[in-house]
Amino acid sequence: MKTVRHFLSLLDLSPDELRALIKRAAELKAIQHAGEIYEPLKNRVLGMIFEKSSTRTRISFESGMIQLGGNSIFLTPRDTQLGRGEPIADSARVISSMVDCVMIRTFGHDIVEQFAEYSQVPVINALTDLYHPCQLLADMQAYAEHRGDIQGKTVAWIGDGNNMCHSYINAARQFDFTLQIAHPLGYEPDADVLAAGGDRIRTTQSPAEATSGADLIVTDVWASMGQEEEQTEREGSFEGFQVNDELMAMAKPDALFMHCLPAHRGEEVSASVIDGPQSVVWDEAENRLHAQKALLECLLVS
Ligand code: CP
Ligand code: NVA
Repeated sequence: MKTVRHFLSLLDLSPDELRALIKRAAELKAIQHAGEIYEPLKNRVLGMIFEKSSTRTRISFESGMIQLGGNSIFLTPRDTQLGRGEPIADSARVISSMVDCVMIRTFGHDIVEQFAEYSQVPVINALTDLYHPCQLLADMQAYAEHRGDIQGKTVAWIGDGNNMCHSYINAARQFDFTLQIAHPLGYEPDADVLAAGGDRIRTTQSPAEATSGADLIVTDVWASMGQEEEQTEREGSFEGFQVNDELMAMAKPDALFMHCLPAHRGEEVSASVIDGPQSVVWDEAENRLHAQKALLECLLVS
């Protein structure tokens, strides 16, 4: 029986495979920008299960499948039996018997793991409370196209020890860079994910210390999806954690700024930084399309 490969975290591909995927994403970007038609996924279908909102992820996967010659089906728990309590295992068996790949955005990471266990086709994690690996493919592509190889560089993560932070920890392992995380007390990354990152990962409560000498500064919202009711409390806890001009001045002069978006100007990032010359957030966002096309090709075309 053919082994099905899933992409639930960055650890599901080897460092060599990830590097090849980022290179391929750049090629697919050039093909797309040249207006060339490339349809290796003709007649293939991606099932897209969204339990949380999305702009970039939904549009990039849908457009990506169309551009690769295939199609996609947008599924929400509200409109399917998933929302009425049909077991994940049963849903996975049925859905995966009808589509060629499944993409899931949900809350608990255990949901994507369970779905993958019972799926006959590749399952892609399109964000859980634990990880957001697809975003890291786009971020790594954006770094490569602006500055070259990220190996040996220093990345500063400023803010919550959340799903994006965890995926940055995994990226530091897979792409071999140093990650300096600054988080308020009480907002630490998951202890196991952090420990597995080894001595490449450093944590501090000082944004200035984490940013010092960094090649790339990254932040994210203070309250993630599902934490909306904590917004006010978090605004207090994250005071002093805004990425602004003063903080950017502590990084290397040619440092880049990234944010997975959506962003809150005036909270985790100042308008002057996100809309300024060091910000590559629009390339980063566009690369969701190209990097995920490379991922779909990698998982579905053998
Ligand atoms: N960055 C990201 O995943 O954006 P969406 O929530 O809009 O998909
Ligand atoms: N940490 C954010 C990322 C959004 C793309 C969230 O989970 O809401």
